[in-house]
Amino acid sequence: MAIILPDLPYAYDALEPYIDAETMHLHHDKHHQTYVNNANAALEKHPEIGEDLEALLADVESIPADIRQALINNGGGHLNHALFWELMTPEKTAPSAELAAAIDATFGSFEEFQAAFTAAATTRFGSGWAWLVVNKEGKLEVTSTANQDTPISEGKKPILGLDVWEHAYYVKYRNVRPDYIKAFFSVINWNKVDELYAVAK
Ligand SMILES: [Fe+2]
Repeated sequence: MAIILPDLPYAYDALEPYIDAETMHLHHDKHHQTYVNNANAALEKHPEIGEDLEALLADVESIPADIRQALINNGGGHLNHALFWELMTPEKTAPSAELAAAIDATFGSFEEFQAAFTAAATTRFGSGWAWLVVNKEGKLEVTSTANQDTPISEGKKPILGLDVWEHAYYVKYRNVRPDYIKAFFSVINWNKVDELYAVAK
């Protein structure tokens, strides 16, 4: 057994014009594949710990020290990207009534949620991710992480995530991260977010 790169759930050009096909090819076939390869190389050194990355990253101290950072980076990279592909769709979707109500209750309105998420994505310095999570109290929260760190390691359940590494947007958006963040909101798969929220809450 080994971790395998999942196929995209849509064609490489399906998210055009918001996310371009060249970026999707590079991002999925090269970057994500590299995280998979490096995670497998780390796991092979310690077959006794298994391959349940979510469980391992939920308790990073349980990971053998000699592969801990490699798994945080590459196991996290795999989990984050596998989730990210599913969080986008070319179809028009909207949050369920229940999620929409939770967003309104937490942030005031959808627009205020979008502003908070956009701020988290914009201000994450260097490489990382912006997230909407269900926190330990069962509440929605906008947060961000550095590098490939997953909110799972902080006891939070990610239900929406945006990759703000330059590799995610530089081909099309160059240095203009805010335009990429805005475009992301046109391709969010709210059906998937709803599904994750229902499990996480
Ligand atoms: Fe990425």
